[in-house]
Amino acid sequence: MNDVTPPKELSAQDAAAQHARLAEDIRMHNAAYHQNDAPLLSDAAYDAMFRRLLAIEAAHPDLAQAESPSQAVGAPPAQGFTKVQHTIPMLSLGNAFSPDDVDEFLTRIRRFLNLQDGDPLEIVAEPKIDGLSVSLRYENGSFVRGATRGDGNEGEDITANLQTIADIPDMLKDAAPRIVEVRGEVYLPRSAFRSLNEEQEAAGARVFANPRNAAAGSLRQHDAGVTASRPLRMFAYAWGEVSEDVAENQREFLEQLDAWGFQTNPLSRACSGLDEIIGNYTTISAKRPELDYDIDGIVYKVDRLDFQRRLGFVSRAPRWAIAHKFPAEQATTILRDIEIQVGRTGSLTPVARLEPVTVGGVVISNATLHNEDEIARKDLRRGDTVVIQRAGDVIPQVVRALLEKRPKDSKTYVFPETCPVCQSEAVRDKEEAVRRCTGGLICPAQVVERLKHFVSRDAFDIEGLGEKNVTALHADMLLSGPADIFRLQNHRASLIEREGWGEQSVENLLEAIEKHRTVPLERFIYALGIRQVGQATARLLARTYGNLADWRAAMNAAHDTKSDALEELLNIDGIGESVANDLLAFVHEDHNRQTLDDLDDLLDIQPFVQPKSDSNLAGKTVVFTGKLEKMTRSEAKAQAEALGAKVSGSVSNKTDLVVAGLGAAAKARKATELGIRTVDEDIWIKMISG
Ligand code: IVH
Repeated sequence: MNDVTPPKELSAQDAAAQHARLAEDIRMHNAAYHQNDAPLLSDAAYDAMFRRLLAIEAAHPDLAQAESPSQAVGAPPAQGFTKVQHTIPMLSLGNAFSPDDVDEFLTRIRRFLNLQDGDPLEIVAEPKIDGLSVSLRYENGSFVRGATRGDGNEGEDITANLQTIADIPDMLKDAAPRIVEVRGEVYLPRSAFRSLNEEQEAAGARVFANPRNAAAGSLRQHDAGVTASRPLRMFAYAWGEVSEDVAENQREFLEQLDAWGFQTNPLSRACSGLDEIIGNYTTISAKRPELDYDIDGIVYKVDRLDFQRRLGFVSRAPRWAIAHKFPAEQATTILRDIEIQVGRTGSLTPVARLEPVTVGGVVISNATLHNEDEIARKDLRRGDTVVIQRAGDVIPQVVRALLEKRPKDSKTYVFPETCPVCQSEAVRDKEEAVRRCTGGLICPAQVVERLKHFVSRDAFDIEGLGEKNVTALHADMLLSGPADIFRLQNHRASLIEREGWGEQSVENLLEAIEKHRTVPLERFIYALGIRQVGQATARLLARTYGNLADWRAAMNAAHDTKSDALEELLNIDGIGESVANDLLAFVHEDHNRQTLDDLDDLLDIQPFVQPKSDSNLAGKTVVFTGKLEKMTRSEAKAQAEALGAKVSGSVSNKTDLVVAGLGAAAKARKATELGIRTVDEDIWIKMISG
């Protein structure tokens, strides 16, 4: 979310539009996190999105409707397990990011409870375990049912799996009320996570991104035997339904949990006052790298349960507790080198090569440096000791250099003004932070990147021409440009002799190439890898000009700044001046003209097929969600558009049809809510072939 306009300054219409976009994104990320165990962005980025949503609602209260994610606590349960209703909802917590936020939390509570300055307010500070919350129901002291949080109101019954966890007692070891629900966090120790991934890798199975995902994957097994083989643990910290009160304060409650036979976190402690709370936060932050489990903050809870009852809840979180989040995990290491990578369009991207270091259980040896301004701003130099950070699954970053450790002979890093691969001049556009190699097709790095793009899935989709083969064939001068791909059959004999190839793999490759000699114009234009010309723009061009000859003729004519051809190009909705400049520059470059001529000779480039207006999908708005199995998303999209449908990324009341693949969640749910027809992939295939 880049819009930083203060929410109060947004018009009602803009606020509503932004709110809808955020809500949709948050729902999607909730589903990715809670149902697919595959977060798509860091916690910090998610929190930022959520804060923006809340800020917009604060300024435009009418937007805080029941369907807003601000009113929910997660995502609904995944399919396949029996549903369990939580009689007492499993809520989430509000967040604090700074001591000021914590101070505000304490002040708010004091004001709410009408406490005087001298009145004590004990707070229990507990590490916030980054695992999966579960609720365990005990009746007459026996464990009868365990469930995931799900959407907070309804979770999944995973009793059999939870029974395999040693930290979960079958029988409570101390007297207990008739009904007690104990809540806590199931996690996989970091050490177990590392060995599990090693085993998974050796077995060619899926490797987990982090311990939390591994724990989630292990808990959602339909075979409890698999769960039993994963050394899951649990810390208990809260309760749900209880037939009688079990304690008067949180500290006592934690002691009771111990007595019943649960594990409680040994770093939990009572604090009074802001200084003690922040001191504890600092101490635990320092211990964080040594812990054998991930924590992502500290939870502060008002100790007295009578106070908790008075404070109650605000929509999705208790007023009596807050999570003080940690910033991204950091470590220091040596910046060994700054390497420059050259991209398809010649962009020079600096990458930090680091002395390998473990950050949050993951070994890091590379980090992004973004661009030359970033290096200059941080004055990063080779040999520097640098602080790096990693938040969630995002690419590690270099935060800053430690000047006190800087070697005496170190020199300011000078960003190259020539391409490190072809030595052509590398220039910077006034408006861009990026420096680009001007070598074009004489730059081997650009040629290889362009070839990789040309054969990629959404372009020519040639199997068997992965990065390794493209690089090797380019180095041996069998591939100097895209046209050479379609001349490879002339080198059959020398291909077969290549180490590790052999007759069969060469046959397969040549067959895959042959299959794609016929190509629709829009795919062809996209495959060229012209700067700023992605799939959508390529399609617009194909739709406007119809066939290769007419497109090329129009581009040639558009070179004249006063031509009708240029006006027509700029009139295409979706093509602005900057795209037009890149397009014309490409088409007028000599090498590229030659390549286009060659490809025109070698290929059968099919004219654009105007969408059938008589199909029953014509004019309809279709949304694809979830994973399709029989075709790629781009293929499905192309088919829908060929039938005259408009493909949209989000579900609204303008949507006519939702095609839900595997794991489709938020969007499919929204479609149901709005009464929009939802079909699966098989029905979709019938619809388009019928
Ligand atoms: S108390 C009503 N204590 O954090 C309050 N939660 O963001 C219930 N969590 O859903 C939560 N450690 O999964 C509490 N010591 C702790 C926790 C903790 C981790 C998780 C829990 C909760 C989430 C809220």
